[in-house]
Order: sequence, then structure tokens, then C-alpha cells
Amino acid sequence: STNGESVPRDEIQGLVAGFPSEENWDGSPLYFYKGVWYPAFAIRGAISFQQHFIARDTDVILASMPKSGTTWLKALAFSVVNRNIYSPTESPLLTTLPHDLVRFFEVDLYAKHQLPDLEQLPSPRIFSSHSHYEAMPPSIRGSGCKIVYICRNPLDQLVSAFHFFRKFKRENVKPLSSIDDDFDNVCRGIRSFGPFWDSVLGYWKASLERPDKVLFLKYEDLKDDITFNLKKLAEFLGIPFTDKEEKDGVIEEISKLCSFDNLRNLEVNRTGVRPLGTPNSAFFRKAKVGDWCNDLTPSMAERFLKIVEEKLAGSGLSF
Ligand code: A3P
Repeated sequence: STNGESVPRDEIQGLVAGFPSEENWDGSPLYFYKGVWYPAFAIRGAISFQQHFIARDTDVILASMPKSGTTWLKALAFSVVNRNIYSPTESPLLTTLPHDLVRFFEVDLYAKHQLPDLEQLPSPRIFSSHSHYEAMPPSIRGSGCKIVYICRNPLDQLVSAFHFFRKFKRENVKPLSSIDDDFDNVCRGIRSFGPFWDSVLGYWKASLERPDKVLFLKYEDLKDDITFNLKKLAEFLGIPFTDKEEKDGVIEEISKLCSFDNLRNLEVNRTGVRPLGTPNSAFFRKAKVGDWCNDLTPSMAERFLKIVEEKLAGSGLSF
């Protein structure tokens, strides 16, 4: 487009009308585009991102399925990259939701009619995406930019998504009553930014083929050993912690700053509200590993895990 509009309205309606569509958990439509089930509020942005984004070799892209630790990864990556600019006591994280410091391509930057001006941002730019690896614009896959993917146990991700949906505010959505609403669709991978298995597998394979460009992280591993994973992240980004930084406790400071308890208790995250009304606190719930057992029956869990295991068979990836 020549007028700075991302994708003209008629064009997008025409495109979307041709995509396979299904009902999301909350009754709103999902559209299948480039192998991803995009919720209605993300489809315009997904197309525009695909058509317009130009990567720089220095870009850092944080990718995930929703509810897999995206907020945490944003806080960590932002802190690692900017550690020489802000000391932990002056970090913008103390007053800003991580999603406003590292913004999503599909649901934020490219969601508006006007194309975002990303050229003026200083390097390294940090962005985030819920798209699958195969759905990334060619400019990203073909560039030297670095992608950090975070995934999570599929049952915990599912339960976390269920709880988030109940607090998530959009127009024309029905309130969710029970987690087994539409469980058949869930088992077919028909969920926001699903199928889960295609999301994880795409990045998993990419991380094996291009380990210097794609880092694959698991939420549970970060919970288990944040120091080790912060070092891994910094090394991957090409800015390893120096001996002096280690001695001075910089890694501990960052892990404390970004910890669930610290972020959750900040004023901005307790009382802030997203532009469409979702409370910031919805991004900070329990942060427990294995919390799924409070919401899924053993038979639902078994059914869903079996499907995930079949899809991941032979990949070397398991949960
Ligand atoms: P629960 O719903 O299981 O509590 P996302 O950031 O991708 O939306 O994922 C949200 C999940 O990550 C929620 O899980 C949330 O509580 C948890 N979370 C948010 N911030 C976190 C942090 N700093 N450390 C660990 N977990 C965090």
C-alpha cells in the first residue's frame, strides 16, 4: 500500500472471507492463515505483519503460544538487553506492564490501520509474536535476527488460557462457563494461535537447524533454574554476562526483578488496565507448574496429552 495504511479494509475482508473459520472457546471466530488459528482481533495484524515487516539482523523476536510465559520472557529479555541502560532500581519494568515494553506484532503493532513506524527504533529492537515459525515473514526467517521461543506444559498452558479468557475483554464474546466447553475443538488444536503442537514443533525444529538463531526455552526449566537460563539467554543474544557482572550479582538482580512475586505486586500490574479493559493482573495468576490438575479431569488430561504425544512423536521433544 502507498498511503501508509497496513492492509486496506476491503482487501483484508476479502482475504479473510476466504480463510477456513471455526469458533473459538468464547464463541468469537478463529481464522486459519499460514497454518495458524488466529483470533479475530489478530488476523488483520497477522496479514499486515506478514506483508510489511522488514527485519534487521540485530532484532530480537520473542515467540510463544499465549499463556506460556510470554510476560516473563519479555521482562527477562528486556532486562538482559538493556542492563547497561537501566539499573534494576530504575527499570521501566517497575512502572510498565512488560507487554508495553515489548510489543506484539499481530495484536498490537500491526493491528491498526496505519503501519507502525519501526524504522526509527534503535537497535536492538525487541518484538514479540504468537505466530508459528512457518508463518513468520520471509524477512525474519532469512535474516540474522534472533528468535527466542518459550513453551510450556500443554495442560498448564491450556488451563492458564482458560482462566485468562475469563478475564480477557473483547467485544462479542460469550463468558466461558466451563473448561470442557468445546473440548473437541481444543483436541483438534482449534484455539487462539494453535494448534499447540504445530507452534512448538516449528520452533523446536528451527532451533535444531539454526541453534545460533533460534533458542527454544521451556517455562518449567526457567522455574527450575533461572540463573542458568538467564545466562543461556544472554549468551544466545550475544551479550553474555561478564565475570564482573556475575560477581556483582547482576543475574540475581534481574531474576528478582522479573520474578512472579515481584512483578505481580507492582502497582502497575495490580491496578493497571489494558486499553480494551483487560486488567493487567490477568497476566499474573498463579505461576505454578502442574496447576492443571485443579481444572482438568484425569480423563480430559489423558485425552489431550495423548494427542500432543502423537503429534510430537519422533521429534525428540516431549513434555
Ligand atoms: P498461570 O495462569 O498458570 O498462573 P503469558 O505471559 O504467556 O500470558 O503466560 C501467563 C502465565 O505465566 C500465567 O500462568 C502467569 O501467572 C505466568 N507468569 C506471569 N508472569 C510470570 C513471571 N514473572 N514468572 C513466572 N510466571 C509468570
